Amino acid sequence: MLRRLHKEQPASFTFTPANMEWAQGQISKYPEGRQASAIIPLLFRAQEQQGWLTRAAIEYVADMLGMAHIRALEVATFYFMFQLQPVGTVAHIQICGTTSCMICGAEELIAVCKELIAPTPHTPSDDGKFSWEEVECLGACANAPMAQIGKDYYEDLSAEKLREMIARFSKGEVPVPGSQTGRYSSEPATGLTSLKEYDSGRTQYNASVDRAVKVGDTVKRIDGTEVPILTPWRKKPAAEAPAVTEEAPAPAARGIDEATAEVLTAKPETTATAEGTQPQGLTAARDGQPDDLKKIEGIGPALEKLCHELGIFHFDQIAQWGAAEVAWMDSNLKGFRGRVTRDKWVNQAKIIVTEGMDVFLERAKTNDY
Ligand code: FES
Repeated sequence: MLRRLHKEQPASFTFTPANMEWAQGQISKYPEGRQASAIIPLLFRAQEQQGWLTRAAIEYVADMLGMAHIRALEVATFYFMFQLQPVGTVAHIQICGTTSCMICGAEELIAVCKELIAPTPHTPSDDGKFSWEEVECLGACANAPMAQIGKDYYEDLSAEKLREMIARFSKGEVPVPGSQTGRYSSEPATGLTSLKEYDSGRTQYNASVDRAVKVGDTVKRIDGTEVPILTPWRKKPAAEAPAVTEEAPAPAARGIDEATAEVLTAKPETTATAEGTQPQGLTAARDGQPDDLKKIEGIGPALEKLCHELGIFHFDQIAQWGAAEVAWMDSNLKGFRGRVTRDKWVNQAKIIVTEGMDVFLERAKTNDY
């Protein structure tokens, strides 16, 4: 199946502050220089936030991770779990159509989706609430036929049951996930035939259904507030990390929005640094004409935006940075730590300032800076 970006795309994407905090926690799992390893969880979070994965979101995540846009686009278009087109506002229903489910009635479930949602997959229903697709085995074959709806599995389905469930979702209800015929888990439909001595202490639901019911986010859009953001490798939950250092002026005073302030200041306990000196910033670009900082190899739209928010608009500002300024930028551009040194921003800016853009662009072809 050809996977393309949708023809209609929103202009921009931004993580909610809570999702940005979550994303920073994920990035912190990886060593410096390996932040791109967080591409899949971040893309998935972006999808969970807005329902589907837009080009703006893909490029936004790429910029956060210092990746070329094409690399992130390759990932997003390769994996089928990424929805590249709008999905239903309530739920995207994924019907397993692989062998076990097909034998047990998946085609009847697909027929229900065609009738109640849309004749073709990946097409929102007239009321925009639902969409559907057929997917490969979801690993719950013993409870075939089954579907993933939102984030949870609904198993032992029938056409009639699926109709009923879509009606309930439509009314804002969330049927309990798991087996829809009363099976506890994946034991024989007639009950256990062996290991009966271990069948004790059952709770109302099996462990995974119990968790789904308790978390309660089956069809809820993720905004970062559902569950605590646990980052034990940072020694304490990221949520407890200071959003802004005590010495720093308030974000608003620097014209920095809350999400960016967190990017700049939230640091793991183990690697927190207060090194260096914050570079002198301008209140605005001279003559209202900022330089195109993206000409510097390694600066993308997200880093350029951060630079602007720090009052850095011109190549000559960067060219003047000494070791202290570089150290400050390297340790405070959270998500981009070490990038100023790694990509030699100062060397590049100096060439642009002293030798001109044409010479720089020629030298940049061979990384001669
Ligand atoms: S065949 Fe449907 S879950 Fe495996």
